[in-house]
Amino acid sequence: MNASAASLTGERSRSHDGAPRGKPQPGSGADTRTCEHRERGSGSERSEALTLKGPVAVVGSSGMLGGDLVRALRDAGHDVIALPRDELDVTDPGQVGRLAQLSPSLLVNCAAYTKVDLAERERDLCYAVNVMGAEHLALLCGRLAIPMVQLSTDYVFDGEKDEGYDEDDPASPLGHYGTTKALAEEIVRGALRKHYIVRTSWLFGHGGENFVEKILARCARDGNATVVADQRGSPTSTRDLSRAIARLIGAGSPYGTYHLTNEGRCTWHEFAQEIARLASPSCVVMPCASGAFPAAARRPRNSGLNNNKAEKLRHWKEALKEYLEERT
Ligand SMILES: NC(=O)c1ccc[n+]([C@@H]2O[C@H](COP(=O)([O-])OP(=O)(O)OC[C@H]3O[C@@H](n4cnc5c(N)ncnc54)[C@H](OP(=O)(O)O)[C@@H]3O)[C@@H](O)[C@H]2O)c1
Repeated sequence: MNASAASLTGERSRSHDGAPRGKPQPGSGADTRTCEHRERGSGSERSEALTLKGPVAVVGSSGMLGGDLVRALRDAGHDVIALPRDELDVTDPGQVGRLAQLSPSLLVNCAAYTKVDLAERERDLCYAVNVMGAEHLALLCGRLAIPMVQLSTDYVFDGEKDEGYDEDDPASPLGHYGTTKALAEEIVRGALRKHYIVRTSWLFGHGGENFVEKILARCARDGNATVVADQRGSPTSTRDLSRAIARLIGAGSPYGTYHLTNEGRCTWHEFAQEIARLASPSCVVMPCASGAFPAAARRPRNSGLNNNKAEKLRHWKEALKEYLEERT
């Protein structure tokens, strides 16, 4: 554990300089179903990230994306403070406030409640991590006058737009997880001029519980897998995404909202077919409709994210092939 980071988990402070404002509720002015983006600093303004003077703090560093992002930022030459949940709980404003002692020059928020279905039941916990956590961090970044990178998701959209979503399309989440992520985006945009909101989708990476591993486990156990064929999106490698985020920051890109996914779109069924073709050829992958596996949360039918602003990533099939080769 980072010695200075350890102090963040000390006694909870009663008050906090960056204390959260009132809790925005879906249906209030912060309701993301109708909100338009207010992109502070999304125009031609360049970031000052090229001249970062201090360390980069990665919050949620033991998550699937967080781990790769720490590596990518270090590879890019940054001094990185990695903060897993047991060193910094974003729901605790006291701990977040004490992060100031480490004098970060930029903060990346990879911490999140990501269980899409369970979120429908654990609504308060999901809200506390995704919305209040992001708000605590954004207020801290505001106090320190440093930029913040907030990770977000294709699930802020309802999936009814066939041609995919642009960076400035209004959010229209279907479930509680997507709603909390959309609210977090609004909070970060509202609190900070210096922000990067990075939406991504369908992540797979080493060390994470991900779709690739689930399909391989199913194939190994049953010799077949039945997978939904009526939801489309872009599978994305956490390593590719992490490197792209490091480049985004390093290039001093204008602040604002970005869509970063591997190129290409497919259904979950097509994704599973490709996994089986490459790593478990005898496995039979059968298509089904979403209705065959009733889930607590509704998911978007087509959550393609159009990348109109950033450098494009390679095709998801190439990234998947590399992931599977490294796994063996
Ligand atoms: N996974 C996807 O397919 C996907 C798709 C689109 C967007 N995203 C977004 O990408 C980001 C990273 O996702 P991921 O897949 O890497 O998620 P993940 O593997 O679930 O990692 C999330 C991390 O957040 C940590 N965390 C949870 N509650 C916390 C708290 N109260 N304080 C501090 N840390 C806390 C978790 O800690 P523990 O390890 O202790 O639980 C975990 O390390 C998230 O913003 C997510 O919404 C993910």
